Amino acid sequence: MTTTNAPATTAVRHPRAVEHLVAGIPTQDGAGVKLTRVLTQPLQHRLDPFLMLDAFGSDRADDYIAGFPDHPHRGFETVTYMLAGRMRHHDSAGHSGLLTNGGVQWMTAGRGVIHSELPEQEEGRMEGFQLWLNLAAKDKMCAPWYRDIPSAEIPEYRTEGVTVRVIAGESHGVAGAMQRDVTRPVYLDVHLAAGARFEQPLPAGHNAFVYVYRCAVTIGDTAVATQRMAILANGADRDGVVLRAGDAAARLILVAGAPLNEPIAQYGPFVMNTQAELIQAVEDFRAGRLA
Ligand code: CO
Repeated sequence: MTTTNAPATTAVRHPRAVEHLVAGIPTQDGAGVKLTRVLTQPLQHRLDPFLMLDAFGSDRADDYIAGFPDHPHRGFETVTYMLAGRMRHHDSAGHSGLLTNGGVQWMTAGRGVIHSELPEQEEGRMEGFQLWLNLAAKDKMCAPWYRDIPSAEIPEYRTEGVTVRVIAGESHGVAGAMQRDVTRPVYLDVHLAAGARFEQPLPAGHNAFVYVYRCAVTIGDTAVATQRMAILANGADRDGVVLRAGDAAARLILVAGAPLNEPIAQYGPFVMNTQAELIQAVEDFRAGRLA
């Protein structure tokens, strides 16, 4: 863990309000993993460049044990953040890694990979998130790439009652484990003590949301309960977000990024710009050209 104390403070003067609260949809994916799809397809334009957020969390092995056997991706990036549990990853480019408590796997599918994500535990808790981050049209057919980021390599800082893990982007002068040009994502895991307050400056044009995974926070006048996503309103004069915990300690992820403003065409695990590109992706997969 890289810990920095008392980083630079940056005042947020005109915080964003909550535009909309989202409960997510319980579903199954992979070979029968139970999860909640928080960011669903109808929100892809509103939350451009983010395409999907799945939250998973269960103490029951039956809910996760089947995992995600071999499946393809093309045209975007997957970011898996493991809060608890062990997940083994393999892909057709020959990469392999073990994702454990507090670690992140950042995978750029680019022109295509086939990979598997399988639990390496038969009991105990499995909890975390998978976020899909779009690639610009010019980058969709780039070479696949990936990086395992162990928990110890995620920069972390503390201020009064607040611990922030900076997975991507920057927060109060602390650079995150990953930087991306074009979409310039910010991905923070924020732990608030009871009554604590945290503010994060955000560029006005970037789309942003908060997902609370422990207890509750307040954003402006809006209470955001556990397992709720708050979509933050955009506005030319809005310079960030201010979060407050209530009587209990709270935890949340804060995610923001620059919209691509390009057409989005999705067919399952392929996200391109046009139908023709999706048909090509399916043909390439069937012909074995993604492996
Ligand atoms: Co996958």
